[in-house]
Amino acid sequence: MPSPTLDLIHPSAHLRDSYRALIAEFVANGDALVPFTLAFENADFDAFMSKLGDCAVGVGVPEGFVAHSTFWLVRDGKEVVGVSNIRHALTPALLREGGSIGYGIRPAVRRQGLGPAILRLSLLRAAALGLTRVLVTCGKQNVASAGVILRNGGVLESEEYLADRGEVVQRYWISLASSHSEA
Ligand SMILES: CC(C)(COP(=O)(O)OP(=O)(O)OC[C@H]1O[C@@H](n2cnc3c(N)ncnc32)[C@H](O)[C@@H]1OP(=O)(O)O)[C@@H](O)C(=O)NCCC(=O)NCCS
Repeated sequence: MPSPTLDLIHPSAHLRDSYRALIAEFVANGDALVPFTLAFENADFDAFMSKLGDCAVGVGVPEGFVAHSTFWLVRDGKEVVGVSNIRHALTPALLREGGSIGYGIRPAVRRQGLGPAILRLSLLRAAALGLTRVLVTCGKQNVASAGVILRNGGVLESEEYLADRGEVVQRYWISLASSHSEA
């Protein structure tokens, strides 16, 4: 069988049902909605698309938020298998724990290497947005995410205990200067 194609695309209404199925899987699996834009209301899909577009240019984002872009990882042109969100700048809160990029892979297709792929393709998007290095964070217990970050060249800067989360968060930097700047 030929290997599947993987593309990190701008959200598109033609994959609405697949996107909704992804969210349903997260919920059924009892997973937190990561990245946070998975929690955006999408009953009115056109309004949802428009909101994501506004967020990407910093329009209507809450106080203290920066512009952020959401992308979908699509397999074989038809299935949304993951979602990533790139923050265009770092605020003190993002520097502390949120980082530059959040990502999630739908539960049914985890452990197939899609995690490293979504971060790799997101790094290309981040470079295209003009970022030269990104901070990626994860809970220390989230060994899958730490593996994804390490596979993409993450360099651990610190581990911080965050009392409000009751866990240690690892903070990794990834340089985009050379290896990630070409498609
Ligand atoms: C983190 C996440 C994106 C990983 O995606 P994935 O497609 O399963 O990634 P992979 O299959 O390539 O696994 C990545 C690494 O973690 C390991 N791994 C994956 N799931 C694991 C698990 N449950 N226990 C132990 N190791 C695990 C894999 O073996 C792999 O290790 P390797 O790099 O040494 O080969 C996915 O689990 C997810 O969406 N989780 C929920 C959202 C989330 O936590 N996002 C990250 C926020 S920081």
